Amino acid sequence: LTRLAVFASGKGSNFWALSQAMQADDFPAEIVFLVVDHQDAPAVALAQQLNLPVHYLNYANFKSRQAAEQSLLTTLQAYRVQGILLAGYMRILGETLIKAYPGRIVNIHPALLPNFPGREGIKDAYEAGVAETGVTIHLVDAGIDTGPIVAQAPVRRYPRDSLADLTERIHASEHELYPKTVQQLVEKGVFNP
Ligand code: GAR
Repeated sequence: LTRLAVFASGKGSNFWALSQAMQADDFPAEIVFLVVDHQDAPAVALAQQLNLPVHYLNYANFKSRQAAEQSLLTTLQAYRVQGILLAGYMRILGETLIKAYPGRIVNIHPALLPNFPGREGIKDAYEAGVAETGVTIHLVDAGIDTGPIVAQAPVRRYPRDSLADLTERIHASEHELYPKTVQQLVEKGVFNP
C-alpha cells in the first residue's frame, strides 16, 4: 500500500472521507498519520477514533517555516511517507516540503480554480453570485492554490441557496471526489519512488 500522510487544520471531514474510503480492501493506499497545526483541531479526535498517530506541528516553536518543515520532514521520512494529502490545511507549504515531495503533494480546494482561490472559496463564489462553482483537486506548487489541476467537479448554486446550503453541497462533492481522485493518482504511480 502507498503510504500517505494527511495534513488538516480544521474539522477534518475530508480526512475522515479519505480514511473511510481507504478501509476498502481494494484501495491501494493507507493513511499513516495525520499532521495538524492546531492541537485542538477536531480532526485530532477523528484520528484518535481511527487509532492513527497525530503529529502536531507547532510552528511557533521554530524560528522559521523552513525549520518547522525540516523537523516534520524527519518524521515523514521515519514513517516512510510517499505522498501528502492536504485536507483543509490552512498554511502555505514552503520549499522544504515541496522539494522533498515534488509532484506528490495534493490539495483540495472548494471552488473551481483558478476561480476563487484562498481561504474562503465557497463564500467568495457565493457572494459573486455565480450559478456554478465546484471542487478542485490539484498538485501543490509554491503558489497559493496554483499547481496542475488533476480533477474538478461542478456544483450548482441555486437561486434560493443559502451559503449553508451551498457549503453542504460542496462538502458532499469533496467527500466523493477526493478519495476517487487519490485512488486514480495512486494507480497511476504518482507516489512511486
Ligand atoms: C474544505 O472545504 C477544503 O476544500 C478547504 O477547507 C475545508 C476543510 O474542511 N480548503 C481550502 O479552502 C484550501 N484553500 P474539512 O476540515 O472538513 O476537511
